[in-house]
Amino acid sequence: MTDPAPAPTALVVGAGSGIGRATAITLADAGLRVVAADLNPAAVTALAAEHEGIVDLGGAWDATDPEACRALVAAVVAETGRLDHLVTTVGWTAITRFLDETPDYWRRIIDVNLMSAIHLAAAAGEVMRETGGSIVLTASEAGVVGTSGEAVYSAAKGGVIALAKSLAREWARFGIRVNVVAPGVTETPLLVEQGGEALLSSIVRGIPLRRAGAPSEIADAIAYLVSARSSYVTGQTLCVGGGLTMSS
Ligand SMILES: NC(=O)c1ccc[n+]([C@@H]2O[C@H](COP(=O)([O-])OP(=O)(O)OC[C@H]3O[C@@H](n4cnc5c(N)ncnc54)[C@H](O)[C@@H]3O)[C@@H](O)[C@H]2O)c1
Repeated sequence: MTDPAPAPTALVVGAGSGIGRATAITLADAGLRVVAADLNPAAVTALAAEHEGIVDLGGAWDATDPEACRALVAAVVAETGRLDHLVTTVGWTAITRFLDETPDYWRRIIDVNLMSAIHLAAAAGEVMRETGGSIVLTASEAGVVGTSGEAVYSAAKGGVIALAKSLAREWARFGIRVNVVAPGVTETPLLVEQGGEALLSSIVRGIPLRRAGAPSEIADAIAYLVSARSSYVTGQTLCVGGGLTMSS
């Protein structure tokens, strides 16, 4: 009898909270070996303790740091022997007026929302160009249609969408698919930080399904894009926002 093949490995970065946490759980429940990473190590340790199939490497992983991203991917391969899927849900925003912001703030928004995706994709691509794989980046519906109060965040998320389209073209020859999930309003700690109930009630009226999404609903879309069920899908942005954004 030969040993059964090891489960494919998915690295989920941003897994300490909200959509990333739900994604780590959904992928682990689907039978993947999930390595969870985040800037917040305690959140990942708690997640791995609560759910089977989630590996905690320990430590704070800063996705805005290219060296840390390379070290993270190397640690995943050392731990599990492979890297089949990368999901990043890393992101941060605040609602502000563009003309009140500073260049340091713009840089931070671009670093957290766009540079993190670039550094993680580059680190994963170094491994996956030998093995193939799938990558899911997280944008926002703001990156598709823009939004008042989040101009640079919208620009960063639009950048994530363009990055995925370009990498999908460049890496198709390696058997790497690259797609994007673009959440709409989703009930996570980030939403609460931005304004919670007050923000929600003002936005929900404009959402055809008349409610915010749950993190697990975004995670389900990510699980589809990660899996072989989307084997002929690459370079696409899947908006998951209750119908708020209907452009393709
Ligand atoms: N919640 C929403 O309504 C909404 C809507 C559209 C898009 N999004 C996007 O979805 C993604 C997840 O958002 P969420 O609502 O789950 O947010 P969240 O704040 O609940 O979770 C984000 C996680 O990313 C981690 N993180 C932040 N900076 C990091 C870094 N430099 N390195 C590693 N980890 C880092 C945080 O520690 C946190 O655990 C983000 O990219 C966000 O922009 C969210």
